[in-house]
Amino acid sequence: MCEPVIVTFCCNHCSYEAADRAGGARKKYPEGVRIIKVPCTGRVEPEFILKAFKCGAEGVLVLGCRPGGCHFKIGNYKAYGRCLLLRKTFRSVGIEEERIRFDWIDANEDERFVKILSEFAEKLRQLDSRLRRNRLDLSS
Ligand code: FES
Repeated sequence: MCEPVIVTFCCNHCSYEAADRAGGARKKYPEGVRIIKVPCTGRVEPEFILKAFKCGAEGVLVLGCRPGGCHFKIGNYKAYGRCLLLRKTFRSVGIEEERIRFDWIDANEDERFVKILSEFAEKLRQLDSRLRRNRLDLSS
């Protein structure tokens, strides 16, 4: 089975550091993960997320610093709000909102980084197999 492509926006301070630690420790995470480093998740405009889908992503993950930990004070809250809004928009047009996920992470949480990505990849696999089943139902 093909691994789902997951575009992951990581802020320069916490989540990218967690990703770097996971890589440095040779921890295994899903092959389809594509990391995009941003100065802060507050910089991730909704258009960036939509463009990721347009370019073939099956899921988009935004990983921000934990509450109170953002180096730009409220960037992580902004990103969280944008993700909620995009999820609501997806739902309203019949696209699975679970394809967008936001989570909080600290720089030393490399184990959690791997866990979040593995869970998200599994969720996307489930969504895709449901989609394939529905297509088969429609064509029969
Ligand atoms: Fe990490 Fe803002 S610096 S989310």
